[in-house]
Amino acid sequence: MIIERYHTIKKDEFKDKIVLITGANRGFGLAITMDLARAGATVIMLGRDLGSLEYAYDAVVDAGLTEPILYPLDLEGATPENYQELQDNILSQFGKLDGVVHNASILGAQMPIEQYDIKLWYSTLQINLSAPFMLTQFLIPALSKSNDARVIFMSSSVGREARAYWGAYSVSKFGIEGFAKTLSEELEKTHISVNTVNPGKMRTEMRRAAYPAEDSSKVPLPEEKSQAIVYLLSSLSPKINGEQLSIAD
Ligand SMILES: NC(=O)c1ccc[n+]([C@@H]2O[C@H](COP(=O)([O-])OP(=O)(O)OC[C@H]3O[C@@H](n4cnc5c(N)ncnc54)[C@H](OP(=O)(O)O)[C@@H]3O)[C@@H](O)[C@H]2O)c1
Repeated sequence: MIIERYHTIKKDEFKDKIVLITGANRGFGLAITMDLARAGATVIMLGRDLGSLEYAYDAVVDAGLTEPILYPLDLEGATPENYQELQDNILSQFGKLDGVVHNASILGAQMPIEQYDIKLWYSTLQINLSAPFMLTQFLIPALSKSNDARVIFMSSSVGREARAYWGAYSVSKFGIEGFAKTLSEELEKTHISVNTVNPGKMRTEMRRAAYPAEDSSKVPLPEEKSQAIVYLLSSLSPKINGEQLSIAD
């Protein structure tokens, strides 16, 4: 299903809504954070580096948007205890969670499987697949307290159709597609909906690393695609569950 890029989002559409975004300090995660904060959401900005989270926080607050919460956590090394602490913090501070955007990822290496660095394989699978599993497991109790909780896993075209040399990144995105589908079926009769989104190409550091020779001026900015994610998170948009969504290019 294709989701249009642009949507009209009302100023207070997300008033009293709490949404957690991983990799919120830059790239697509920051663009989504800005749009959600513009719509009145309290965004829990999760990122691995406090310095760059603080920099992003200033961008949100200086724009006069709803003040976000910073949550430094490295998804590569995070333990069940770290996720339990996050769950406790969310439940004690807000009593619920209305949305999660599993956005943080690394590209890994682009090379043949035959030569793929084994340590990098593990890191990529950990950040892109196992961390979203653990995070989701520990956030379900808070999501269950919302009357309309929406979970989005960021996927990729190479998570739906195999392409040579995309290695662990591609495998992690195929994994996230399978994980999201399984979860969506388990939660079918609840107020929690689960979908994957292929955002398509965006002018970010990941894209530059993947396509260094590309003319980046022709690649859409993440700010040109973030409204589609806000639309999907909004209770004013129809509830969709278990679908593979793509943002229009
Ligand atoms: N850009 C595209 O063209 C494109 C196309 C298809 C799909 N996607 C997907 O869209 C999502 C966003 O991509 P992007 O282009 O915005 O990527 P990006 O610019 O590379 O940003 C990745 C984000 O993930 C964070 N991150 C990486 N490792 C982490 C860790 N261990 N713990 C916590 N956070 C970590 C990064 O934090 P640091 O700043 O600390 O590194 C950064 O905030 C990804 O899931 C990607 O796979 C992107």
